[in-house]
Amino acid sequence: MNKAADDAGDGSELIFADIARDIAATGYSILPNALPAALLDQLSKHVQTMSGADFKKAGIGRESAQHLNQLIRGDEICWINGDHEAGAAWLGWLESLQVFLNRRLFLGLFSSESHYAHYGPGDFYKKHSDAFKGEANRVLSMVLYLNNEWQSEDGGELVIYTGYEAQTPLAVSPSFGTIVVFLSEDFPHEVLPTRRDRFSIATWFRASSASAPR
Ligand code: OGA
Ligand code: MN
Repeated sequence: MNKAADDAGDGSELIFADIARDIAATGYSILPNALPAALLDQLSKHVQTMSGADFKKAGIGRESAQHLNQLIRGDEICWINGDHEAGAAWLGWLESLQVFLNRRLFLGLFSSESHYAHYGPGDFYKKHSDAFKGEANRVLSMVLYLNNEWQSEDGGELVIYTGYEAQTPLAVSPSFGTIVVFLSEDFPHEVLPTRRDRFSIATWFRASSASAPR
């Protein structure tokens, strides 16, 4: 990258500032149209070229026995590396966001990991947390949605549990270009059963190299 890593050069600083403001205020941020149009277009075109063979059933750590797993989550995932142009551009944007958030919020984000996810009709992901208190692991979670013309009857909402003792559900439609960012330890969340194919990119930022990714 030639430019300073926090200067994406595409106007993303305005969005980064919105994310930082929301995270500081409430711990989460929901933003429609958060990505540069060219990057969003690149990612959505790439995901459309991917086939079933590119995706693998997602696991849930220790209890990864498939029959147990299916009761908890049904999605298939594909980790993103720099092999494709779209993935490389996405990782660059994430790096810029990481640098910005570290400067603005002193989060000490050190690395990120990111995967495409596909939920087919009937798939869901039961209520869970992306990180566990006291374990140095995921600090910030982010999901980007790549679904054109999502309708309310399509289901598949992300529900994040906000407010006092995480008792207030907030449903987000997985609409094209929407991003949701939240502090991983503080917001349990779930994906309601979807009625059509649902594509997203899930990302986690970690605070240190101490706990190896995956
Ligand atoms: C996850 C997750 C939410 C979504 O992958 O951990 O919570 O809306 N995804 O896809
Ligand atoms: Mn999650």
